[in-house]
Amino acid sequence: MHPTLPSSLLLRLSEFVAIQTGLYFPRERWGDLERGIAAAAPDFNFSDRESCARWLLSAPLTRHMNETLASHLSVGETYFFREKPGLGVFGEQILPELLQRRRQNERRLRIWSAGCSTGEEAYTIAILLDRLIPDLKDWNVTLLATDFNPKFLRKAAQGMYGAWSFRDAPVWLREQYFTRKKDGRFEILPRIRKMVTFSYLNFADDVYPSLLNNTSAMDVIFCRNVLMYFTAQQTKQVTGNFHRALVDGGWLIVSPAEGSNTLLSSFTPVEFPGAVLYRKMANAESHMQNLKYCVSEHQVPQSFREIKVASSSLPVEQTEPVVAAVAIQVAQADKSPAPQPDEREIPSRMAHSCANQGRLSEALEWCERAIVADKMNSAHHYLSATILQEQGRHDIAMQSLMRALYLDPDFVLAHFSLGNLHQSQGRYREAQRYFGNVLLLLRKHPQDEILPEADGLTAGRLAEIVTSLLASLPQLAAANT
Ligand SMILES: C[S@@+](CC[C@H](N)C(=O)[O-])C[C@H]1O[C@@H](n2cnc3c(N)ncnc32)[C@H](O)[C@@H]1O
Repeated sequence: MHPTLPSSLLLRLSEFVAIQTGLYFPRERWGDLERGIAAAAPDFNFSDRESCARWLLSAPLTRHMNETLASHLSVGETYFFREKPGLGVFGEQILPELLQRRRQNERRLRIWSAGCSTGEEAYTIAILLDRLIPDLKDWNVTLLATDFNPKFLRKAAQGMYGAWSFRDAPVWLREQYFTRKKDGRFEILPRIRKMVTFSYLNFADDVYPSLLNNTSAMDVIFCRNVLMYFTAQQTKQVTGNFHRALVDGGWLIVSPAEGSNTLLSSFTPVEFPGAVLYRKMANAESHMQNLKYCVSEHQVPQSFREIKVASSSLPVEQTEPVVAAVAIQVAQADKSPAPQPDEREIPSRMAHSCANQGRLSEALEWCERAIVADKMNSAHHYLSATILQEQGRHDIAMQSLMRALYLDPDFVLAHFSLGNLHQSQGRYREAQRYFGNVLLLLRKHPQDEILPEADGLTAGRLAEIVTSLLASLPQLAAANT
């Protein structure tokens, strides 16, 4: 589209948008910028784009307004099995090495589709895992998919797609992994849908990596066709966070157009035929690893067709009967003498540190020591729940969260985690209840107060996240109850 707004206005708008959202609109993309403003105008109660543009430049925007604007300006284009060379390297090189390493001890895989749009990328990864890991049921797989556009997330969670999403997909995909519906659309198989957890996360604003939003200790981050729309500064910040979110030896997969050794300078670029991937590693290791992966041209990834299947301030009815049972357990816990305060902190610090590096069994051992040393501390039970959740031990995680709530019924993050746990298991009514509790409890906190155990997350931000999550629940409830 040819821009029709005055150039001076578009220039100011593009500068404003870069500051507010991190999205980059050079002159060649002013048509896209204008189209986005036109689409956003009704949401801001304007009937014409120019008045809306001028108002945006003059009014202080709330974070919600900012996100509304960004959701209209960001591009959601995506489809199944997009950019096959990168996927091929993932399936044929990265994954086998990872499986071999982990098979001996913790059978755990953590993958993040960052900027997942309507879910095609995350489901593509889930389907690859399903085809390539014969004993998948024995693995604890976390496949996190995040975006900042709630409409995209809703569609992703429904898992219903039209033919256009399959425009570059292998023929077997629809036949083997989807059910055709009466309206001509295709629904992803429930077992694949359950492999993916869709969550809200804004790269510009939110805190990550964090145990809170399950973004730490990742093995592989796919962030494709996202960074290209960011300013250089925003890209640096986001990739720096990704670097910290990965375990040592973890991989960042961007699209070919986005690779940049300057912007991704903390990573080691590793060249494969048809794709360059970015690895997090200690400097001394980097050269050797680079050599190891410099494979020759004839090792081009197989086509996917050929892949072989290898007492609270809350109302009384909002607390749970389980709390009573948990109360007895906590009360019965052994009464060992209390150590010095500084000594007490060591186990929980160690637990945090191990968990951040993905050493979950060790983290849990430290957590247990922390609980023995200070059993009435709700934060220890909460941390333990977070680690158990990462290990896929959801029922025990839930018990730990209930313990945390027994000790501190107003523990906002414990309610939030319970909401997330119920949501991830399709119990939307319970999820709704816990998210509701979070909003009730947050009323007591000033917007800018940093919540305990929340890695810098403020009360205001958590309220926004939970509101957004709640907005996505009723439709899911209709689909699942
Ligand atoms: C072009 S899509 C890419 C989808 C998928 N990764 C792929 O390659 O097919 C870009 C996605 O990034 C999301 N995005 C853009 N800016 C973001 C931000 N600041 N935080 C989170 N998601 C963002 C958009 O909402 C959009 O869904």
